[in-house]
Amino acid sequence: MGRGSDALNVLLREERRFAPSAAFVTRANARDREIYGRAGADPEAYWAEWAGELDWFERWHTVVEWDPPHAKWFVGGKLNATYNCLDRHVSGGRRNKAALIWEGEPGDRRTYTYWDLHRETSKFANVLKGLGVRRGDRVAIYLPMIPEAVIAMLACARIGAPHSVVFGGFSPDSLSDRIQDAQAKVLITADGGYRRGQVVPLKANADRGLERSASIEHVVVIARGGGISGETGVHMKQGRDHWYHELMDDASPVCEAEAVDAEDLLYILYTSGTTGKPKGVVHTTGGYLTQVYATTKLVFDLKEDDVYWCTADVGWVTGHSYIVYGPLANGATVLMYEGAPDWPDRGRLWTLCETYGVTVFYTAPTAIRAFMRWGEEWPGRHDLSRLRLLGTVGEPINPEAWMWYHRVIGGERCPIVDTWWQTETGAIMITPLPGITETKPGSATLPFPGVFADVMNQGGESVNAGFLALTRPWPAMLRTIYGDDQRYRDQYWSKWPDLYFTGDGAKRDEDGYFWLLGRVDDVLNVAGHRVGTMEVESALVAHPAVAEAAVVGKAHEIKGQAIAAFVTLKEGHRALDGLADELKEHVVEKIGAIARPEAILFTADLPKTRSGKIMRRLLRDIAEGRALGDTTTLADPAVVEQLKRRYEEKEV
Ligand code: PRX
Repeated sequence: MGRGSDALNVLLREERRFAPSAAFVTRANARDREIYGRAGADPEAYWAEWAGELDWFERWHTVVEWDPPHAKWFVGGKLNATYNCLDRHVSGGRRNKAALIWEGEPGDRRTYTYWDLHRETSKFANVLKGLGVRRGDRVAIYLPMIPEAVIAMLACARIGAPHSVVFGGFSPDSLSDRIQDAQAKVLITADGGYRRGQVVPLKANADRGLERSASIEHVVVIARGGGISGETGVHMKQGRDHWYHELMDDASPVCEAEAVDAEDLLYILYTSGTTGKPKGVVHTTGGYLTQVYATTKLVFDLKEDDVYWCTADVGWVTGHSYIVYGPLANGATVLMYEGAPDWPDRGRLWTLCETYGVTVFYTAPTAIRAFMRWGEEWPGRHDLSRLRLLGTVGEPINPEAWMWYHRVIGGERCPIVDTWWQTETGAIMITPLPGITETKPGSATLPFPGVFADVMNQGGESVNAGFLALTRPWPAMLRTIYGDDQRYRDQYWSKWPDLYFTGDGAKRDEDGYFWLLGRVDDVLNVAGHRVGTMEVESALVAHPAVAEAAVVGKAHEIKGQAIAAFVTLKEGHRALDGLADELKEHVVEKIGAIARPEAILFTADLPKTRSGKIMRRLLRDIAEGRALGDTTTLADPAVVEQLKRRYEEKEV
């Protein structure tokens, strides 16, 4: 779990309360508690009302069909996500409103109005069609944070081709695994992107990934500009690879939005699970769009003149739901930034907030803890007075970080929405409503109206401390795991009959507020990113020197959790200087930098039960420097004592 029980007790004694100010309440999109009662009494009518705020080509005949564990929402309805994000604004009053304001890391900037975005998206949709992409074909997207990432996603949605966005920080192997699993036909990438003044050579990485990706027929390469192509020596394979700008030159700007079924796939997004193989989370169109639209409107309280900034990467679900589909469906002005928060200095995000007049800001606790460490002077140099609402997502936020965010960034005037959700839930599930909910630092508070959550024990009884469960289907829920419905059933629906198991631990306090405690399975949360222990273990054992590996999370001041690996070597290999670094690099090569182990300890043996199961709990105790728990079930208790001593000596 992400937090020890001591930390939890401190949390539950947290007595600070923050009620929304009268000024905020007066203008809030949701200010009447009655919404909870109404949604609770008739969730179908409530969600149907939200769906009614979208544009449909054909109205649904049934709100939800629940055939556990499969749900269908807005059955019979036809719509298009891009139409809802662009066309309806272009034909309404937002034609010339800024949809996307983008700044590159080197400081270059571009602004797209709704009309601009509509034109570029339609052109690119035609480009995809020209490359043979048909409704239902999968398209992989491997891009930096540039406007074309949004255009590519929306273009896919426009023609009914599900996208599979792969975070640009993932390795060639990870890209290739995802392409193969989805059998993607086209890959959209860029020559490179900027990160801390360096160029990330995306096309070169993609080329390595493509060596094993037979399904890809065409690759579209965006020239990020700034001479990147020259620097990275992009190789274009004749017949397969095409420059984006050349294809776009000839493309028609007219492309009707395809009327897709509410239950047609909108996208697949891979996320880490409890095995070595990432899961392709499947999201469909009508329910997903309804819930991201509703949550964006109420949780971020979006108004016509807001400048909204979510700092996530489009490669994660937060980017999908709260950079692209939620805000654009609401007709918002979205800020997007390409690069690192500390480039060229640690004030970059605050410079951006001041320059563009950001009013709503959504980031991760790990980022907030980094800002705290960098010092108040960085935000202190900027005028952040336009900010009016702050959000967090991705991991539990500790009350100190919450208070710092409130005081230093929010000037003690901005409500904070701590939003709990997952790749699988598609949209925000547990969250304050900023004009209604009194917040407590460290608690995500209450389920969004129309969402039903409970805390349960192993036996499925409602308790105050246990596992977080979702007890009714919700519109944006994942529909299955791509190509592996059995895994979908096993992973989420087998713990209790017809209830969704989140994989998170939670407590509930006397006001019914939820306090999220982190994962209870073999999934780590490193700097807000999900990493499977088994994925890292399989990467390690793929190294020729490694016999066995056990990976656990250890508490980390900034990242929340860091990766610690215990490794046994094969006969004939010794833990020579430099091997630990080599293994760390090897994991980065295999998965990507987010999975780099912070500590590696070589050991002759791993602590195992008599039946041969690795005792991860003990390894976690060692990694976090705690007294060892019960060792009586171990085959050889001496192993763990030795390991603990060696770990402490090395202070890894
Ligand atoms: O453990 C929970 C944590 O992040 C997990 C989901 O990760 P992912 O699918 O990558 O999606 C992250 C962005 C939605 C959850 O199972 N988590 C997410 N938000 C919170 C959180 N833990 C505590 N508080 C949150 N607000």
